[in-house]
Amino acid sequence: MNRYNASDLSRWRSDGAALMPGFFTKSEIVPVLDDFGILFSGGQPQPHAAVENTKGKDVRMPSRVQFEHTRMMPFDCSPALNLLALHPALIAFAREALGTEDVRLYQSISWAKFTGQADFDQPFHMDYYNHTLTTIGDDPCQRTVNFSIYATDVTDEHGSIRYVTRGEGDEICGPMRPGMPDVSQQDALRRIERSGAGPSGTVLAYSSDIYHRATNLTAPEGRRYVLFASYKAAENDAVDFVAWPSSVPREWSRLYSADDNPWRHFFEHASPEQLACLNVPLPGDRFWTEVTLARTQTRWPRWDATAWRRAIA
Ligand SMILES: [Fe+2]
Repeated sequence: MNRYNASDLSRWRSDGAALMPGFFTKSEIVPVLDDFGILFSGGQPQPHAAVENTKGKDVRMPSRVQFEHTRMMPFDCSPALNLLALHPALIAFAREALGTEDVRLYQSISWAKFTGQADFDQPFHMDYYNHTLTTIGDDPCQRTVNFSIYATDVTDEHGSIRYVTRGEGDEICGPMRPGMPDVSQQDALRRIERSGAGPSGTVLAYSSDIYHRATNLTAPEGRRYVLFASYKAAENDAVDFVAWPSSVPREWSRLYSADDNPWRHFFEHASPEQLACLNVPLPGDRFWTEVTLARTQTRWPRWDATAWRRAIA
């Protein structure tokens, strides 16, 4: 199945964004929609959009309520949503885009939005301001590949992202790339913005150094389920977002039991290449000895460690 092509990669390199409808099939998305329904069962879509009346001439993010229905991986649901960020085709795209085989998943967030829950309309901004303390390097391998994966249809009435290319952003805001452009720059960006609308199964690949903004949900009773998955080169330790070992839902006790710890989904279903994206050393790495393998197997009893064991023997 051809999920993306060379022109998608070249658009990611030149523009900083590539919109790819049909990346995931309907049958791949069905269980993901079920998982979103489980995670965000508390969401109540309303007939009318919420609109903040506090926006003035200042450039600011809408209220924190917009982030209410977000979860960091691992997710307390089936393996479908958990493994989606590590789909082999996403890893392959990230490897080609970054020009290295050794990539890491450094962020995976599921985000549900409901009409009326909040005013989701954001000003243009760049994401790298909370992915690094410096800036994004100019070499492709120093960039990030940020996937936005649409589980539901995301029309303009369902809060589709708006973005401009890297070149257009630099032309309006200058090469120093302010994280939050000023009011006149915001107006200029809005005049040329593109819509990232797409049907369920669409993937938008962008780089964290392009200007983009979220928009409000106006469709009556609308809901929007999107998974964000971000990759970087393994060698790029200037970029990060979360430490996977400390990411667990709610109860800390889950760290110590495989039975109800969602990380088990990864050890039970992921390939060595997928686990390597989470810093689990590949088979043959000098980390693996009879002892480290046995200890890890004790932690994850249903992990099929055959490939790792063979590489030791
Ligand atoms: Fe953003």
